[in-house]
Amino acid sequence: MDLLQRPRRLRSTKALRELVAETRISPSQLMYPAFVRAGITAPEPISALPGQYQHTLDSIRALARELVEAGVGGIDLFGVPLPEQKDAIGSNAWAEAGILNQGISAIREEVGDALVICADTCLDEFTSHGHCGVVRDDGTVDNDATLPLYAKMALSQAQAGAHMVSPSGMMDGQVRYIRQALDVAGFSDVAIMAYSAKYASAFFGPFRGAVGSTLKGNRRTYQQDPANRKEGLREALLDISEGADIVMVKPASHYLDVVADVAATVQVPVAAYQVSGEYAMLEAAAAKGWIDRERAIQESLISIARAGADVILTYWALEVAKRSGVER
Ligand code: PBG
Repeated sequence: MDLLQRPRRLRSTKALRELVAETRISPSQLMYPAFVRAGITAPEPISALPGQYQHTLDSIRALARELVEAGVGGIDLFGVPLPEQKDAIGSNAWAEAGILNQGISAIREEVGDALVICADTCLDEFTSHGHCGVVRDDGTVDNDATLPLYAKMALSQAQAGAHMVSPSGMMDGQVRYIRQALDVAGFSDVAIMAYSAKYASAFFGPFRGAVGSTLKGNRRTYQQDPANRKEGLREALLDISEGADIVMVKPASHYLDVVADVAATVQVPVAAYQVSGEYAMLEAAAAKGWIDRERAIQESLISIARAGADVILTYWALEVAKRSGVER
């Protein structure tokens, strides 16, 4: 057999495979999405996200320390206020005493700069109607009336100690508006990770339970249509022109084409968010014994990185970091 090219040669031992692996996952590129909830005295398990919790201010501190010890790159924090703290404009979102800002301060005090502390900058957890912005009398979401509220929220998060804010509401102009507000207030070093290509996805389902969402209806007038690929790149480029430091594609696994397009085009870091539904599906199949849980987790993350994501937001961040170096 006269065969010069034998790709199998480089697959023959584990050491060889690892030597030539094109993609590796490092804990420092992972961000852990976490929830801090008002009015609870012990961490509350999230039923649709087995292994994930709504945290108290104390347990979120302990979690942050654990993340640092495991070498995880960052935390992306979401707040769950009391039901009676919600109102039509989501004003608890920018209250200094609001649960999200309290959570940010607690984490910053606990770990300082050892972890990138990122805050979700969106009103949906704080509005009585559950939409990401101000709702007009006719039920539509008012883009321009929402922007000043995002700016207030981002500013309060910077004041609480966030290194990075993360607008996820998909209002046009949100990055520019927030950048300007931060700069005017002297927070020019606070970075913006923009949820740029965020699709109206069924895979957000478990998250809505995790934050006690009150949403009725859907977000299809502001989040993107899953059918649209070019539009994902357009959104990312727009956000960069508005001052985004990192652009994100979300969800991750079903949108790897968009991740790849964005990664091939932009000159800023690209993040991808492996969302609650991606986590829940795999956990459920593993619980049934239908899938090798750890291999499937690793493969899912490798695939997202292979598509071009530099930063990966995943509910498995802590677990994977603790296990890093494990066989693929
Ligand atoms: C909105 C927001 C959502 C998620 C992150 N930020 C939900 C939504 O848009 O309905 C989903 C995250 C996940 O599913 O893991 N602020």
